[in-house]
Amino acid sequence: DIDRKVDSVLALMTLDEKIGQMVQYNGSWDVTGPATGTDNKKKLENLKKGLVGSMLNVTSVKNTREAQRIIMENSRLKIPLIFAYDVIHGYQTMFPVPLGESASWDLELMEKTARVAARETAASGVHWTFAPMMDVSRDARWGRIMEGAGEDPYLNSKIAVARINGFQGEDLSDPLTIAACAKHFAGYGFAEGGRDYNTVNIGLHELHNSILPPFKAAADAGVATFMNSFNEIDGVPATASKYLQRDLLKGKWGWDGFIVSDWGSIAELIPHGVAADKKQAAEMAVKAGSDMDMEGGAYESSLRELVENGEVEEALIDNSVKRILRLKFELGLFDDPYKYFDEELEKKELYSEANQQVALEAAKKSIVLLKNEADILPVKKGVRNIAVIGPLADDKDSPLGNWRAHAVENSAVSVLEGIRNHAPEGVKVSYAKGAELSTGKRGFLDPMSINKTDRSGFAEAVKLAGEADLVFLVVGEDAYQTGEGRSQTDIGFAGVQDELIEQVTGANSNVVMLLMNGRPMDITASSEKVSAILETWLLGSQHGNAVAEVVFGKYNPSGKLPVSFPRNVGQEPLYYNQKNTGRPSGGEQVTWSHYTDSRRDALYPFGYGLSYTDFEYGEISLDKNEFSKDGKITASIEVTNTGDVAGEEVVQLYLRDFIGSITRPVKELKAFQKVELQPGQTKKLSFTIDEEMISYFTRNKKWEAEAGEFKLFIGGNSVDLKETGFEYK
Ligand code: IFM
Repeated sequence: DIDRKVDSVLALMTLDEKIGQMVQYNGSWDVTGPATGTDNKKKLENLKKGLVGSMLNVTSVKNTREAQRIIMENSRLKIPLIFAYDVIHGYQTMFPVPLGESASWDLELMEKTARVAARETAASGVHWTFAPMMDVSRDARWGRIMEGAGEDPYLNSKIAVARINGFQGEDLSDPLTIAACAKHFAGYGFAEGGRDYNTVNIGLHELHNSILPPFKAAADAGVATFMNSFNEIDGVPATASKYLQRDLLKGKWGWDGFIVSDWGSIAELIPHGVAADKKQAAEMAVKAGSDMDMEGGAYESSLRELVENGEVEEALIDNSVKRILRLKFELGLFDDPYKYFDEELEKKELYSEANQQVALEAAKKSIVLLKNEADILPVKKGVRNIAVIGPLADDKDSPLGNWRAHAVENSAVSVLEGIRNHAPEGVKVSYAKGAELSTGKRGFLDPMSINKTDRSGFAEAVKLAGEADLVFLVVGEDAYQTGEGRSQTDIGFAGVQDELIEQVTGANSNVVMLLMNGRPMDITASSEKVSAILETWLLGSQHGNAVAEVVFGKYNPSGKLPVSFPRNVGQEPLYYNQKNTGRPSGGEQVTWSHYTDSRRDALYPFGYGLSYTDFEYGEISLDKNEFSKDGKITASIEVTNTGDVAGEEVVQLYLRDFIGSITRPVKELKAFQKVELQPGQTKKLSFTIDEEMISYFTRNKKWEAEAGEFKLFIGGNSVDLKETGFEYK
């Protein structure tokens, strides 16, 4: 039915109007007032003529309504605009940065936070988010590792689908759901050296086995749009990759949504050095399957000429336009272009009390307990004097993270506030900043220019630490140290934080480090000095309350790392699902695959995280130890809470395929279940092993299962595992 309607609109359109649908403008002026500057004046004129399909960064009911009005009251065909925005971890209510939230391994929760973000977004007149990012990344240096679900393709796939379902709901025409976008297609997370936008050199097997699975899962889940990526892969910029976009995504995978370019990525084919000018760039991108040009000016300036000269078939344009119009119909915009513009709803939805509760739940479930010597946490009754120290301790802004959409500056609950809110009666809480993290302009923290000499706050910090029974030391990264363009060669503590840690741990032996960060950091040296470590990421609006609930034992931490924490930056890229290599070990020899100055393994591995209780795993039992096509094995394991508080455990299942037609990882996550266990309680968990679980992109260049021996592991992280084996015949 929608296809028929789409065709009927398409039949009315001139070539210019069709090309206009493939153009997305940034709202670089206040649409409610006159446009200023030549570019904006031209944009406004084109809006009036109906030569624009979408705008990004126009938000709020007032502004989106006005932009929509311009097109509806002036253009010939009155095709409504679709408004897009980067709602990455919340619109005004902020949830943990995506990497942090992924540490919850709680798919229902992530669907819920995406649903709340969608409600706030839609209520602000915006129809479409550029999320979720599902770029698998193994490199902590890459600033955008913060925006995804970490290093594992399976975990990324599951989380991507949960977030898509949260954003899109059951029905895109519901005015409280929004269209999602699978980005960045593809390979962006594999930038060489972790340097943003850098070259990606990977082979076809790596592409299919490690990078594409979340995108395939997103396409299968019905994600409305895809965004292509800035990087090249094996010499071909992704934006110009016909293989990725037209052959695979729209061809083999049969996906019927539309692909938006990344910001200017079509015009960037020129500096990439594959196109001489915008015209050639536009030709390449449209032939490759990029449907909409985000703020690149290439389609707008060149597609007409390319079609008229016969260099691009109009059928290609028609196909892109149909895909774009289809989403507009699905959103219900043709029925009522103003349906998302309701000021009352906007007021009701934004930052509501109910949304804050979801933010709190997400924040506490994302915290990972990395170390807890002598069970120093949760805070014991005898503790009467707590010192909260550190450059991030009373930071109300950093918890909001980067890509914070419409979060109000300084609106997060700081750690200090949270501790004060939750500390038991009569407990003294004192505070010292100890050191400045940033001297630069807020929002653009440049670690190179951080003050490395100001130690003037140390004395007070040391004094308070000396007087306290327990110290919370809040260190790590500023909100803007991760995110786009924030790659670093040093993933240790910036500024004088290392010295502060040294001083404070010298003054008190009961120090709990509360890490705030958007990437895995090198915390090796400090981890030996402190008694406990909580990885608290950048947890959003309710950061401090969530941390306080955990440290005071109101919530038992259940997070598990979605990414390996290295011993030092030189190990990067570091990931658990590595290949064995031809020289995995060497005994006394030096000639094996290792470093001579560092261990090879992670400081804290993928999947790792402690609890205030202990979980004991039984042995794995299999109902049979071999299966063949269409068959399956059921693997079971008993998990017992042996401690005296209730807790949640993420039970993880990994496989190793011993001999493959191509080399296989030493371990791959294939399933997980998050379970809650009361003290003393045992639960038996079952997992199904079938052909799909053991399939991969083989030397035949297709997904299939290969016969052979497999090892099966189950446990609470990627290292401490029970194991058994089975055969696929
Ligand atoms: O969505 C983003 C993308 O991830 C990076 N470049 C800009 C886009 C729009 O803001």
